[in-house]
Amino acid sequence: MLKTRQRDLGTPASAATETVTIEIDGLPATVQAGTSILRAARESGVDIPKLCATDSVKPFGSCRLCLVEIEGRKGYPASCTTPVEAGMQIRTQTEALSKIRRNVMELYISDHPLDCLTCSANGDCELQDMAGAVGLRNVRYGFDGDNHLDAGVDTSNPYFQFDASKCIVCSRCVRACDEVQGTFALTIEGRGFKSKVSAGMNEDFLDSECVSCGACVQACPTATLMEKSIVDHGQPDHAVVTTCAYCGVGCSFQAEMKGDQVVRMTPWKDGQANHGHSCVKGRFAWGYASHRDRVMDPMIRENTSDPWRKVSWQEAIDYTARRFGEIQEKHGRKSIGGITSSRCTNEEVFVVQKLVRAAMGNNNVDTCARVCHSPTGYGLKTTLGTSAGTQPFDSVMDADVMIVIGANPTAGHPVFASQMKRRLRQGAQLIVVDPREIGLVRSPHVEAAHHLALLPGTNVPIINALAHVIVSEGLADEDYVSERCDLESWDSWKAMILKDENSPEEVARVSGVDAEEIRAAARIYAKARNGAIYYGLGVTEHSQGSTMVMGMANLAMATGNIGRSGVGVNPLRGQNNVQGSCDMGSFPHELAGYRPVSDEDVRTQFEQHWGVTIDPEPGFRIPNMFDAACAGKFKGIYIQGEDVAQSDPDTNHVEAALSSMECIVVQDLFLNETAKFAHVFLPGTSFLEKNGTFINAERRINRVRKVMEPQQGKDEWLITQELAQAMGYPMNYNNAAEIMDEIAELTPTFNNVSFQFLDEVGSVQWPCNDSAPMGTPIMHIEQFVRGKGLFVETDYVPTEERTNRKFPLLLTTGRILSQYNVGAQTRRTANNVWYGEDLLEVHPHDAETRGIRDGELVSLASRKGDITLRAKITTRVKPGVVYTTFHNPETGANVVTTEYGDWATDCPEYKVTAVQIAPASHRSQWQEKFAARAEQQGKISETN
Ligand code: SF4
Ligand code: SF4
Ligand code: SF4
Ligand code: FES
Repeated sequence: MLKTRQRDLGTPASAATETVTIEIDGLPATVQAGTSILRAARESGVDIPKLCATDSVKPFGSCRLCLVEIEGRKGYPASCTTPVEAGMQIRTQTEALSKIRRNVMELYISDHPLDCLTCSANGDCELQDMAGAVGLRNVRYGFDGDNHLDAGVDTSNPYFQFDASKCIVCSRCVRACDEVQGTFALTIEGRGFKSKVSAGMNEDFLDSECVSCGACVQACPTATLMEKSIVDHGQPDHAVVTTCAYCGVGCSFQAEMKGDQVVRMTPWKDGQANHGHSCVKGRFAWGYASHRDRVMDPMIRENTSDPWRKVSWQEAIDYTARRFGEIQEKHGRKSIGGITSSRCTNEEVFVVQKLVRAAMGNNNVDTCARVCHSPTGYGLKTTLGTSAGTQPFDSVMDADVMIVIGANPTAGHPVFASQMKRRLRQGAQLIVVDPREIGLVRSPHVEAAHHLALLPGTNVPIINALAHVIVSEGLADEDYVSERCDLESWDSWKAMILKDENSPEEVARVSGVDAEEIRAAARIYAKARNGAIYYGLGVTEHSQGSTMVMGMANLAMATGNIGRSGVGVNPLRGQNNVQGSCDMGSFPHELAGYRPVSDEDVRTQFEQHWGVTIDPEPGFRIPNMFDAACAGKFKGIYIQGEDVAQSDPDTNHVEAALSSMECIVVQDLFLNETAKFAHVFLPGTSFLEKNGTFINAERRINRVRKVMEPQQGKDEWLITQELAQAMGYPMNYNNAAEIMDEIAELTPTFNNVSFQFLDEVGSVQWPCNDSAPMGTPIMHIEQFVRGKGLFVETDYVPTEERTNRKFPLLLTTGRILSQYNVGAQTRRTANNVWYGEDLLEVHPHDAETRGIRDGELVSLASRKGDITLRAKITTRVKPGVVYTTFHNPETGANVVTTEYGDWATDCPEYKVTAVQIAPASHRSQWQEKFAARAEQQGKISETN
């Protein structure tokens, strides 16, 4: 068997807590009640042959290979479908069983190509293993009868193929698609000999409902469903367990290697966030790491119109240090700063904020979380006491009602979406609050009880109206509130929430959501045994983002829905390490662990450790940096793995700010949009080349392990360290583990964390310290971290961004499954087959009144600028609302978004822009300028 194959215990684990003792082949075994005999045997080291069973799906009992004998019972029951009973005496190896198993295998093999030696699964095929295990030596039936040997191969999916000639119709793939992924894309069509696996309505995989999660490929025991990378490169010879670098779910993967090449990423069964599941991005879209666009040499240039000049690391670092030094001398200590990346490891982020504070001598450090989840930090800290979500993902399996607000989990957090769907299929109820009909609203076997399709910008009135119903109808959990919450704040909040303006009838007028729908949703949530709230950027990226976060916390406290499994308020973090980059102190006003830089005791602790004086004044947030740059006061910036020119709002303003700086340093894999304005390019490393940690949306600290050496020759933390040294600050780590040791020492919530500890326990959720040595899956159990939960009044202040005659529609933005953020990674993979360009979703009514046709170009204009893109006419958006994504730089979606942001944190208001749309025939002015600049920079690169 292949060395990298993960152990398969045959059937899923039983949830029972009591145990039973049985006897297997004369030896006693104690297992959880409800365990199958097959699993019990495998747990005890006895591998009963099997084919149709696998531990990711329920047993099916079709192959008849796993038969056993049980003392006192007639016949040969299938061990995969028979649960253990106390005292059972089981025999797994008898002459009769061997004969039956050989006969079963003989039938399978008689309809199977005998090309084992040249088959891509050779060495990793359960059929091959089973033929050996049962001692099959010859096949009596010959191969002349009817068979499936000429069945075709479907190669339509870019990442895996389906070779029907090798299929044994065990239906593991069908069950994996149903039970694990929840997409129900596959069926077994026909009966008996004619039965076969079919994707959708007899379509090929690419045209079917398949979302390329890979669960079926993982479940297939033969070479029928096989990764094309394995077909091309052969089987792996070793593997390293690491963490996906895409979204905030933080799936664990086994990177399977052949020499120093990755040939496959398989989801890690012991991963505590994903339990062996994956989505198309983590499973398949890792090829960007070796894409030809990747820059491998440091480069510098005096002016952005000059060609890039490849230089040594030493020269690039010395040049940067000199330019930063000159700027500070001329424009002052605070004229430079840095931006940390939520895609980098905690260790890499920590050293960048330390570089800014210790070597640059100011607090001008911010993170890209500024533009996504900064209101989460503010809102949850204010109300509950901690800037993070309250639950582990697994908690959703205890939720009876879920409210999903401003998030699209099937696209943004697919593995968690599959878990949510599993719970919904078990009978939990779902309320979706979103302007758009997201995938969860209606999918096979899942339907939301209520979809509150509100107008963009009206989250706060909706959450207030839900609370109004709960308080006015006496549905609040008064006992919980009296015991756990600040009663003064409760009284004032109640008075606010009971105002007429917060009644469903009044809120219906501003939000466009029917009052009765609001009432019904509020009652379901309030009456649930366990009600859980999950939310995303559709909550935070508003001028009232922080207000809305506090509104959700208020609602959860009022109904007693915080502090146990199945409840809580949970941000679905966008990028892999948004939580970590915030935890690491990359905010201009906070050091690691969210401790204010203005607090002398906190500063003293860091000052003693770092041997410098830390500026007590908070520094610039990202938008302030841009404003200060335009005002001539901010002149140099070190940008780690972040493409502000594409991702930040009001592109024209961002470009003006970048153009006015004297030294921009970009550290990234690719020459991104921001690099067009840069003077120094420091090549970064992909996640496959890093040692470190990421922290996912459930506060889980996962290890990232080096699968290969940095391809550009230097660890990223070391680049930052050498820059700090060149700027005169002695930073001296020997490896990433030492950086984590310092983080742990300086951050009370991380005190017990180390690489060694994580390697021992797998992963851990912070706080992890002497009070919680094994971490803290659920927060606020006995009491809130701040003591008493604080209700904060959440009056609705509408955004300044209003529709008018010129801009009568509202634009809201989001992402789709196959692309990720600015697309720098996914656009350099075969994922483009699903989504090659940003589209504008328009309701048929709005399209018709403007003469817009599906697939044709439309101009999208706001008071900030205009772009042209292709229209997709759909009822997923309601009349008056249009929607697009921002994955492609040439689209320039952020040319139209505005300068408005959250009142508390400056998180941009990406989700509400007043726009007009019209048929178009050519690119916009900005897009022409973009194309010209791309051409000019392309020429510069060619001359290099
Ligand atoms: S494709 Fe694989 S998993 Fe699916 S039925 Fe065929 S052999 Fe079984
Ligand atoms: S890849 Fe995932 S979605 Fe597609 S058929 Fe397989 S299990 Fe279903
Ligand atoms: S769900 Fe997120 S973390 Fe998991 S594989 Fe997909 S992108 Fe990676
Ligand atoms: S493994 Fe039990 S019947 Fe197939």
